[in-house]
Amino acid sequence: MGYGHNENFIGSDSYALKTMTNKISYLDDGDFCLLYEEKVEFYNFQKKKINKEIFELSQDDNIADKGDFKDFMSKEIDEQSLSTKKCINEYLDKTRNEINIYNLPIEPKKINKIRLIACGTAYHSCLIAKYWIEEFTSIDVDADIASEFRYRNVKLNKNDLYIFVSQSGETADTYAALEKCKINKVKTCGIVNVVESSIARLADFVLPIHAGPEIGVASTKAFLGQMLVLYLLILKISKERDDIDFDEYKKMILDLKKLPDFIKETLSKQNDIQVIAKDFITAKGTMYLGRGYSYPIAMEGALKLKELSYIHAEGYAAGEMKHGPLALIEDGMPVIVLAPKDRYYEKTISNMQEVIARGGKVIMITDDASTTMNENIRFKFQIPKTNSTLNSFLLTIPIQFLAYHVALLKNCDIDKPRNLAKSVTVE
Ligand code: AGP
Repeated sequence: MGYGHNENFIGSDSYALKTMTNKISYLDDGDFCLLYEEKVEFYNFQKKKINKEIFELSQDDNIADKGDFKDFMSKEIDEQSLSTKKCINEYLDKTRNEINIYNLPIEPKKINKIRLIACGTAYHSCLIAKYWIEEFTSIDVDADIASEFRYRNVKLNKNDLYIFVSQSGETADTYAALEKCKINKVKTCGIVNVVESSIARLADFVLPIHAGPEIGVASTKAFLGQMLVLYLLILKISKERDDIDFDEYKKMILDLKKLPDFIKETLSKQNDIQVIAKDFITAKGTMYLGRGYSYPIAMEGALKLKELSYIHAEGYAAGEMKHGPLALIEDGMPVIVLAPKDRYYEKTISNMQEVIARGGKVIMITDDASTTMNENIRFKFQIPKTNSTLNSFLLTIPIQFLAYHVALLKNCDIDKPRNLAKSVTVE
């Protein structure tokens, strides 16, 4: 509920109301209200009149202003260097290189397992975190889609940490999964963009991503923010448990500080992607392939293309190709291969050759400067070279650009793709 002067508003999340008012109240489950021009009356599920706390929303700059940009999505993509810098500054103590995350609901040394729960793009950030947790800690980990987790007979354990990731903090399935954990009294943590949201208010512990308002339905800067906060949290837990060598930890912090500049450099190559976008207009469908940290980005790339341009796309672990999807490859089919020079590189390249041999038109995204475009690699997008765990951030940018430019060529509604909503407040 939002309060105005002789007018009151109702919205599915606080961002929807921000241009009208900064004073809001939240309805809890079962509550209802009567909305008049000059007042709002609240009732609980027993029809008893109740009072509601009034919250003042934080003032973000440039709230609903596109500035010189054509749409919110291009603005939000462009903001990613600044938004990651802001988030790093919020969490890093510059002098001590310490990560300012304290008082987790379970002491890091006592965490038995981490369960990550979310929907859509936020779920993809959880999948990447799963790889990082396995790499940097001795903790067992699982990532779940919230709509599955909430109905499964999951064994909840008081020594496990349950992490819920959501840009809006209002997603119905993620909220219901969190509620299930709260009812069972296990420890919960919310990673959100909207700090006043329902998930932020229900979780035991909250880590904001500090990305600023994200208006475009397709999530871009919030995805990078989710990955970043998960990365910082994992490094912190790893250090507190002595799972990571201190020198390695310091090196990773130093590398992380350079990330906003690498993002800026990658953002400056937008024009390169426009050239290839037209290949997708006539395509029946496409595939994104990756291994390791690049696999969840392949899934994210496919989701972005689907939701923005309505072209069928799938993200696969490159090693799965032989188990079915290879049958789809035919002459001229565009296939995006995410192949940074990490420990999976050789394997990914051999999967790429299998695609080429069947006539697939490969678009390669890599940090390897030695591969050149040829009759087999139709297009190459070069990302800067960095610590391989940070590749996921940089690989994300070309796949966002690609989805954006294909949608633009198809005249699709960039900020409001058909059939979708920014906050999914129903099942
Ligand atoms: C992403 O581009 C989508 N719009 C969608 O998958 C989104 O990430 C999902 O609905 C979860 O939203 P949340 O982060 O607000 O919970």
